[in-house]
Amino acid sequence: MNVLITGSMGQLGRSFRRSFLNLDHECFFTDLHGCEDVVPLDITDAGAVCSYVRDHGIDVIINCAAYTDVNKAEDEEELAFRINADAAGNLAAAAAETGAVLVHFSTDYVFDGKSHLPYSEDMPACPVNAYGRTKLAGEKAIEASGCRYMIFRTAWLYSSFGKNFVKTMVELTAERQEISVVYDQVGTPTYAQDLADTVAMIIDGGNLSCSGIYHYTDEGVCSWYDLAREVNDLLGHFCNVKPCRTADYPTRAARPHYSVLDKHKVRNVFGIDIPHWKESLYCCIDEMKKRR
Ligand SMILES: NC(=O)c1ccc[n+]([C@@H]2O[C@H](COP(=O)([O-])OP(=O)(O)OC[C@H]3O[C@@H](n4cnc5c(N)ncnc54)[C@H](OP(=O)(O)O)[C@@H]3O)[C@@H](O)[C@H]2O)c1
Repeated sequence: MNVLITGSMGQLGRSFRRSFLNLDHECFFTDLHGCEDVVPLDITDAGAVCSYVRDHGIDVIINCAAYTDVNKAEDEEELAFRINADAAGNLAAAAAETGAVLVHFSTDYVFDGKSHLPYSEDMPACPVNAYGRTKLAGEKAIEASGCRYMIFRTAWLYSSFGKNFVKTMVELTAERQEISVVYDQVGTPTYAQDLADTVAMIIDGGNLSCSGIYHYTDEGVCSWYDLAREVNDLLGHFCNVKPCRTADYPTRAARPHYSVLDKHKVRNVFGIDIPHWKESLYCCIDEMKKRR
């Protein structure tokens, strides 16, 4: 199959590059700015997107491109909307026109975090920040387009690439004697490679007719504080990681206090096993150590 991966320089996009290495598909890598084997393609340009998909006979579009700065989105909601909502609609329109399948990623931040039970796909979305609103609008644009699609809502993505919470904690726990991390936001960390490998396996298996929204994170539940402590312990750092409340660490964007996603549907439909976040964190930290 011909597979287009947009946003292929981001952390999920780069993970997909690895997932497809040993699979027998023709991959086309694009991002906002091109480099090496990455072709520049701005997904907000509807005409360019449609031509690219048509001209390259794309069967599957994997959209890893997004506006992901949650705090900055509060001040740049229009730009975030163009990338996360309008551009998702452009990709969906191209998929609808050509018959390609669109694989797209959304977020636990479409929920308000008031639940005390894991969120299933059919629970009402009610974002508490601009980023969540733009991602929810992207989901709706795809659903309305009439294309075949799979939307994977994920959460707390990290990898050895780019900027993410785990990498920040690797640095901070090495440099500082003491840090405070919020313990009253609870969710599930997700190693981007786990998500990319799972989606690549689904595509490779030709299982493309199950249109809908799916929740995918690693298994288990923790707070940002728990995650920071685990990073510190795995690396053998001696930083004193202390718990603090969200109120003690105000950020520009509000965040849900609880955003655990229920993964029954993705497990049942695709028959997949999902690793526990601690096992995957160990793998990622191990990879970071080897790279040093
Ligand atoms: N990161 C998380 O914790 C998290 C949590 C839940 C869901 N998600 C979702 O998971 C997906 C992947 O996230 P990620 O963390 O891999 O994102 P990321 O690392 O920020 O990568 C996004 C990529 O998209 C590119 N991009 C931005 N605007 C573009 C445009 N107009 N046209 C083409 N490419 C463009 C970015 O390029 P520049 O760097 O040049 O802007 C970047 O390479 C996203 O849909 C995100 O919303 C992420």
